Amino acid sequence: MENLVIPKSIAIILDGNGRWAEKRNLPRAMGHKAGCEALERTVEDCVRLGVESLTVYAFSTENWKRSALEVGALMKLLRFYMVKLIDVANKNNVRAVMIGDENRFEPDIRKGIKKLVDATSKNTGMTFAFAINYGGRDEIRRAIDHIVDDVASGVVSKEDISEELISSYLDTRGLPDPDLLIRTSGELRVSNFLLWQIAYSEFYITDTLWPDFDKEELLKAIESYSKRQRRFGGR
Ligand code: FPP
Repeated sequence: MENLVIPKSIAIILDGNGRWAEKRNLPRAMGHKAGCEALERTVEDCVRLGVESLTVYAFSTENWKRSALEVGALMKLLRFYMVKLIDVANKNNVRAVMIGDENRFEPDIRKGIKKLVDATSKNTGMTFAFAINYGGRDEIRRAIDHIVDDVASGVVSKEDISEELISSYLDTRGLPDPDLLIRTSGELRVSNFLLWQIAYSEFYITDTLWPDFDKEELLKAIESYSKRQRRFGGR
């Protein structure tokens, strides 16, 4: 397509790993494994297209409610995948950051997150924000908690509380708000992802299940985005 407008910042709700596996009579964990491969491809595709920032919703604050078997499988995959991501990120000059509350993870996972972030911190290309144990409401609650402490200790005065200041207390501080939010597997909901940051994002929903998401799908989303007229509330 001509006049493809590449969004500076893309966010993706990865959904449909379970259904992908169930359709094949495979355990759900196999769907998550295939989801990791789709994620790797998507990071590389976004880099090649010149996207500046990619944020993906990989594990929500609500996902702990899944069966112990599935949560265990996801944690095992996460341990392995964070090491793999160091390679993928460094090969593609990608800086990885984590958003979400890491305090609920086991110490070795927290170490793994630190390793991934430190090992890629000097990369100057795309930023990849990995949302794990992330919830939009929880992020806002933690930011308010922090602001209240800073007001109490005089670091911030009450009059300083602007939208910019609130943004600077969120996990996504320094990252551009998503221009385009993609959700796979057809559900029409936001599921507590980036509630503050998506105020003016364009939405693209595809029925494709996350493990099947590929460059063609990404380009379809970007083509649709390219046709939108963004007004940010103005005319
Ligand atoms: C949603 O599919 C996907 C997840 C809950 C996790 C997806 C994350 C990855 C594959 C990336 C790597 C992340 C980790 C934590 C290893 P679903 O299970 O909700 O699918 P369904 O709606 O079809 O059941």
